[in-house]
Amino acid sequence: MAERGFLLASLLLFCCLAGTCYGIVLFSSLPRTLVVTASPNQGQVLVAGEDKITVTWGVNQSLPAGTDSAYKTIKVKFCYAPISQVDRAWRKTVDNISKDKTCQFLIVSKPYDSSNKTVQSFELTVQRDVPSATYFVRAFAYNSENVELGYGQTTDAHKTTNLFEVQSITGRHVSLDIASVCFSAFSVLSLLVFFVAEKKRAKRSQ
Ligand SMILES: *[C@@H]1O[C@H](CO)[C@@H](O)[C@H](O)[C@H]1NC(C)=O
Ligand SMILES: *[C@@H]1O[C@H](CO)[C@@H](O)[C@H](O)[C@H]1NC(C)=O
Ligand SMILES: *[C@@H]1O[C@H](CO)[C@@H](O)[C@H](O)[C@H]1NC(C)=O
Repeated sequence: MAERGFLLASLLLFCCLAGTCYGIVLFSSLPRTLVVTASPNQGQVLVAGEDKITVTWGVNQSLPAGTDSAYKTIKVKFCYAPISQVDRAWRKTVDNISKDKTCQFLIVSKPYDSSNKTVQSFELTVQRDVPSATYFVRAFAYNSENVELGYGQTTDAHKTTNLFEVQSITGRHVSLDIASVCFSAFSVLSLLVFFVAEKKRAKRSQ
């Protein structure tokens, strides 16, 4: 019984520790160690589900050797450019990486081999679920505990250069759906208002 309690307590403690470890990473404290490039030119428009993109990444070779010694995984993501974040809290940039909403679309996750310094390259089709917006590409390097150790991105620190657009073909359907939902809600509401008004009138005339 006591043993089980101890086990549970240590498990809880472990989870808490893991949680704080994970939560500690602030983007502003992350070193820019990766050199990342992507094929779209500034302002290019990619159609989701159709157009292809090539992304390359590697550790900046002018950094001291061993910078990447703990790197285990590289994850490359599509991130919203500031222009597509305006008035959209669900895309907001937060320095605490566990809360950040800038980079919501994982495009590739690859194990990192620190013994092979060759620049890695990956070609893929822009996924259908990527919404219409302006983006840049950012890559994160993770250690074996899935904690961010470094990053690289295709744009400058202010996120103003090398931005590209994704045009979602399903976007139109989504807005149509929203419009029809609004319409149904509106008709239910007007029916309700009519019903209440009618009841009031009936009461008054009694
Ligand atoms: C980051 O967010 C996580 C999850 O909400 C939180 O536990 C952690 O304390 C935050 N870290 C910092 C440094 O604000
Ligand atoms: C690589 O690192 C050097 C030294 O920190 C820096 O001056 C240079 O801008 C970096 N290159 C890229 C492409 O980030
Ligand atoms: C290094 O990585 C490249 C790209 O993934 C791969 O083609 C090559 O075979 C690798 N070389 C070694 C020695 O593992």
